[in-house]
Amino acid sequence: MRGLVLSGGHGTRLRPITYSYQKQLIPVANKPILFYAIEDIIEAGIHEIGIVVGPNKEQVMDTVLSREWDATIEFIEQDAPRGIAHAVKISQGFLKDEPFVVYLGDNILREGITRHVDDFLSSGVDASILLSHVNNPQQFGVAQLDEQGKVMRLIEKPEHPPSDLALVGIYLFRHVIFDAVHSITPSWRNELEITDAIQWLIDHGYSVKASIVDGWWKDTGKSEDILEANTLVLDDIHTDIRGTVEDAIIRGRVVVGEGTVLRDGSVVKGPAIIGRECTISNAYIGPYTSIGDGCEIVGTEVEGSVVMEGARILDVERVVDSLIGRDALVERGNSLPKGHSFKIGDNSVVRI
Ligand code: TTP
Repeated sequence: MRGLVLSGGHGTRLRPITYSYQKQLIPVANKPILFYAIEDIIEAGIHEIGIVVGPNKEQVMDTVLSREWDATIEFIEQDAPRGIAHAVKISQGFLKDEPFVVYLGDNILREGITRHVDDFLSSGVDASILLSHVNNPQQFGVAQLDEQGKVMRLIEKPEHPPSDLALVGIYLFRHVIFDAVHSITPSWRNELEITDAIQWLIDHGYSVKASIVDGWWKDTGKSEDILEANTLVLDDIHTDIRGTVEDAIIRGRVVVGEGTVLRDGSVVKGPAIIGRECTISNAYIGPYTSIGDGCEIVGTEVEGSVVMEGARILDVERVVDSLIGRDALVERGNSLPKGHSFKIGDNSVVRI
């Protein structure tokens, strides 16, 4: 069995972060989202993994190769984001004749994929899709199942959903999927849609099974989703303090990396994670916050936020529910005339 992780796409809904950074590299609990997918695949016993890369491909390659993996990793270049089924199509040479799992690199699934992979391999079906119960099926791809649990139909963002079962970004296929991806044509948005390829399998009499996930699942397409995924992952962390707690109070489950100093009456209330080589001074780091390596938080309260590496937040009263990019600076200005002063990129959002 082989694994295919998708790490291309423009990530337009996550601008401005994605102007300079590939969305699958955005950290959740200080780990690139993409790493959760790779880890899940390896945990399921798969050790040959292809990663589809597109815009910012060097960034993705460098980040993946900065770590040792119990797997061989091959990068597959997609010239433009032409759809998930297109990514599968161009990976045929890598996937050969083996069954494989496709894992969208911006999805996180708490329970991992081992059970689903094992069920798929023992079932002998042609394809298996993962489904999750959701409250707002109108906003997802939704599956309609028959009484035996076989997939009958997939409908994209239906006005009148036939079920509350949303399509998770993880798919299991056998070789016949290549017949499907070669037969379908681009959709109205000019992409080869994986839902069309799966529907092709159903319409041509192949067996497509559904596997319902138990724990939480998150597709991190928008900034609110990143913050929510961060909350969900931090709920499972364990205390591990490696930095120096000079004059600070730590409450609850907190991770502090090597070389980080907490001082000047700072308070950290978990669950929270602070990376390496950070300075936290006269600051409050509240629950569900992730602070990346090399950050400086001074005279500020930060809560429910993801602060990426190298960012500095200085003497700003309170920062909540925020996604702060790498090396960003947020500070109180003292010069006259008084007023907010900005240097922000296209599509930035500032709430005061
Ligand atoms: P999407 O979230 O549907 O697309 P996107 O990443 O371009 O984001 P946006 O809609 O905000 O512009 O893609 C789902 C996943 O699949 C995501 O991890 C990116 C990846 N992908 C590819 O690798 N190649 C592709 O051609 C497409 C469409 C997506």
